[in-house]
Amino acid sequence: MEALLRAALEARNHAHAVFSDFKVGAALEDASGAIHTGCNIENASYSLTICAERVAIFKAMSEGSRRFRRIAVAADTEVLAPPCGSCRQILWEFCGDIEVVLINLAGKTESFRMKDLFPRPFDATFL
Ligand code: THU
Repeated sequence: MEALLRAALEARNHAHAVFSDFKVGAALEDASGAIHTGCNIENASYSLTICAERVAIFKAMSEGSRRFRRIAVAADTEVLAPPCGSCRQILWEFCGDIEVVLINLAGKTESFRMKDLFPRPFDATFL
């Protein structure tokens, strides 16, 4: 299995999903080929939970990365789980029309483009 998918599956093992028990891992490849990982982190307020995708994006940006190629998202579901609405907004704004590859623990994958997952976006072009 390729490195990006493996990184998403490995990141999932770090998920702090004590309330939902739904673990997610993400691996974001930047324009230099570096991989930035993330996992979901839940907390007692529930609403301050942050998804794996946003952890990966914010980690990457905090280390100076600004251009991205692809993101892989791993979860333990038969029907592959796509990014939530909040993550689609952030993915669109900071990563643009990148490829989104979903994977489950059996190694099943499916690939999408952000423009298809997030049509007619609101973004900084309106401001
Ligand atoms: N979750 C993610 O990490 N990414 C998504 O795109 C969907 C949802 C997390 C948030 C929460 O910790 C758990 O999955 C259940 O919603």
